[in-house]
Amino acid sequence: MTEIPVRDFDFHGPALDTIFDTYKELRDHCPVGWSDRYGGFWFLAKNEDIFNAEQDWATFSVAPSMLLPAFGTDEPMIPIDIDPPLHSAYRKLLLPLFTPRAVDALTPLVEETARTLADEVVKGEVADIGLGYARPLPSIIFCTLVGYPPEDWHMFDDWVDRIIYDRDVNPEESATAANEVRDYLWSLVERRRREPPKDDITGRLITAQIDGRPITDEEILNYGYLLFLAGLDTTAWAIRSSLWYLARNPQDQERLRRDPGLISSAAEEFLRTMSPVQAMARTATKDVEVGGCPIKKGDRVVLAFGSGNRDEDAYPDPDEIIIDREENRHFAFGAGIHRCLGSNLGRREVIVALREFLDRVPPFEAVNLDEPWHGVGPLTVRFIREA
Ligand code: HEM
Repeated sequence: MTEIPVRDFDFHGPALDTIFDTYKELRDHCPVGWSDRYGGFWFLAKNEDIFNAEQDWATFSVAPSMLLPAFGTDEPMIPIDIDPPLHSAYRKLLLPLFTPRAVDALTPLVEETARTLADEVVKGEVADIGLGYARPLPSIIFCTLVGYPPEDWHMFDDWVDRIIYDRDVNPEESATAANEVRDYLWSLVERRRREPPKDDITGRLITAQIDGRPITDEEILNYGYLLFLAGLDTTAWAIRSSLWYLARNPQDQERLRRDPGLISSAAEEFLRTMSPVQAMARTATKDVEVGGCPIKKGDRVVLAFGSGNRDEDAYPDPDEIIIDREENRHFAFGAGIHRCLGSNLGRREVIVALREFLDRVPPFEAVNLDEPWHGVGPLTVRFIREA
């Protein structure tokens, strides 16, 4: 029997500090292997293997959950933890709110919000633009999209931190926060049922039909909960990591200021190289072999998107951030039937955030070089004003 390749591979917390070196080692020496973390999982590190698994949803199921570890609850999140045929019925419910046209309609609000936040953070000499800019922007937009009172966004950061960023070290805390969010979502649903109809996420969910029957209360909650966790920190991370890079690379910052037409290709490159979702899990529905490894029915399989995005077989100079890179298909939003429903919006928010920021603030540089590229924590910068 061939020996199973094993690595102590992790893709959360401090492991992210050095994860690009880890990925390189995996791609070179152990492109498919086993890690004992989180109950044990296979990992796929090559672009092609990840892509193939994304397409083969019948073998690589999203049930019981795509999240490893779970997001504070064992309830299946909708639509991310649901396989066909039900998956597309759920997805279709909200699709009209995420089309390019719907995102165009939201863009003036994104621009106005970005300007207000940029004008506020730039008042001092030094600012935490993670806290003051990258995080609030998606939360404020999300309130409008879902129908929360606009001032409620202040409560979201703490919940997201406890559910997403504490879950690998403190699952109890994550579960407590999950219950708080679900209670909060539920109070909105109950209130909205008493109010006149409105066309937003909550309005569509409470009146939805699935397979010719009314959606259940649990389904509404499991959909609303997923959106809360899918739409906030991902976009905040993408904005923060882009600004993190620009604060450390004055030449590219200057180039984007001079030529804002490059901002969309730069945003794509930041998404590829510093993806907010570094990996997602699947579960094998039957025995299958990948890269010579015997994956058994029921085994968890982690698709390491962040590694696939830096695969030398898929991109020239994969670790270089080339802000005018032309060919740039990546896994930041996934690739198969579960490809991010909010990708048009997430992308637009990142582009607008960068454009408005560069337009309204003077050149800026990193103050604390220890702040990591990943996550949604502080990003401290100094504004360089002409004397
Ligand atoms: C830059 C920001 C974002 C990134 C990087 C991102 C990334 C992802 C990724 C990697 C997946 C899983 C894809 C897969 O496994 O194939 C996903 C799914 C999803 N995302 Fe996003 N996301 C972002 C923003 C958003 C926003 C703003 C929303 C909504 C408000 C959203 C809603 C969803 C939903 C509903 C799914 C599940 C889709 C399905 O199962 O069919 N995302 N996202």
